[in-house]
Amino acid sequence: MDDLRIPAHVAIIMDGNGRWAKKRNLPRKMGHVEGCKVVEQTVEDAARLGIQYLTVYAFSTENWKRSKDEISALMQLFRYYTKRLLKIAAENNVRVRMIGERSRFPEDIVKGINALESTTRGNTRMTFVIAVNYGSRDEIRRGMSRMMADCRDGRVSPEEVTEELISSYLDTAGIPDPDLLIRTSGEERLSNFLLWQLAYSEFYFSDVLWPDFSKEELVKAIEVYNKRERRFGDAK
Ligand code: FPP
Repeated sequence: MDDLRIPAHVAIIMDGNGRWAKKRNLPRKMGHVEGCKVVEQTVEDAARLGIQYLTVYAFSTENWKRSKDEISALMQLFRYYTKRLLKIAAENNVRVRMIGERSRFPEDIVKGINALESTTRGNTRMTFVIAVNYGSRDEIRRGMSRMMADCRDGRVSPEEVTEELISSYLDTAGIPDPDLLIRTSGEERLSNFLLWQLAYSEFYFSDVLWPDFSKEELVKAIEVYNKRERRFGDAK
């Protein structure tokens, strides 16, 4: 394990909380409670492994279709974790950044998110990116809308539109693209996650349900990543 090449940016679709709970005859929300503990542990594991950016998909634009009860449980968890993450981020020198359209969340959660970002801004060991009310197409739509407004106002011209310029209008501006994407629970879909940013990433699908994810599983994903030869479309 010592000479493992550690990917700079690992993105995770945390899936399987509901099934984990169902297997134990527990309400779905208990799967999310357990899933949050695993998020906390994974932040520490990733920082110790030397990962520089860890991005997790916590709540998608589609998740609003879930039951009222489940959404309210998730909101309670966000409420609690925006505070708890202040401590975890301080202990691990981690900067926290949120992507997604946060204004749809209750005001106190938005305030918690803003406080978490501003308090941790100076931390340098790892950046922990949390996608909340995030959908990649929505992110691109919002970004393009801002770009067109800038064009209308003369701040940018059509000739200047490069891939880098487009990236700079996305929520992930300034964050390098993920090297490795992990999705748990056996599903093999992108579910509207980082469509632009994952263009050249390696994908690792694990059968483990998110609440059962562990450092061993993270290392296994990195080992598989190490065995792959990355291709960027250039000569083989
Ligand atoms: C997918 O499992 C998981 C979610 C929709 C929510 C994930 C959120 C967390 C783990 C909380 C994140 C918290 C912080 C602080 C970042 P599922 O419910 O779709 O599971 P299923 O496919 O088995 O039904």
